[in-house]
Amino acid sequence: MARTVFILNGPNLNLLGLREPEIYGRETLADVEAACARLAGELGLATDFRQSNHEGVLVDWIHEARQAAAGIVINPGAYTHTSVAILDALNAFAGPVIEVHVSNVHRREAFRHRSYVSLRAEAVIAGCGTEGYLLALRRMATLLGAA
Ligand code: DQA
Repeated sequence: MARTVFILNGPNLNLLGLREPEIYGRETLADVEAACARLAGELGLATDFRQSNHEGVLVDWIHEARQAAAGIVINPGAYTHTSVAILDALNAFAGPVIEVHVSNVHRREAFRHRSYVSLRAEAVIAGCGTEGYLLALRRMATLLGAA
């Protein structure tokens, strides 16, 4: 059976394609989900794609991943810059973690330059638009030995 990668999205990413398109582009999260599922199939992986605006829900999903996922791709949205709880949950997950940001957070406000999640992530992809999710999946396949 194909190994499952959780692709977790934090707050406001449900508005991808609708909010600030000059920063985040015009692709919706549903477009990203479909593209990820397609590529994962080619890579011999399965994806479980989710979004929540609530920190605790994201923590619960990361706990669930301990049993249900081989790896995690996560765009924690604004929680990237604030959430010790998400970092702690990721530290309790044994598999590879890849952090994705649609925008180049390092070219934006100073508060976006700090990421708690980066302390745990094997890789960080920022500024590649929604293609960053696909790059993350390719890297995940390599890390999992699935490619
Ligand atoms: C984001 C960058 C964050 O700083 C921001 O709060 C988001 C989206 C990105 O994908 O570029 O919500 O994670």
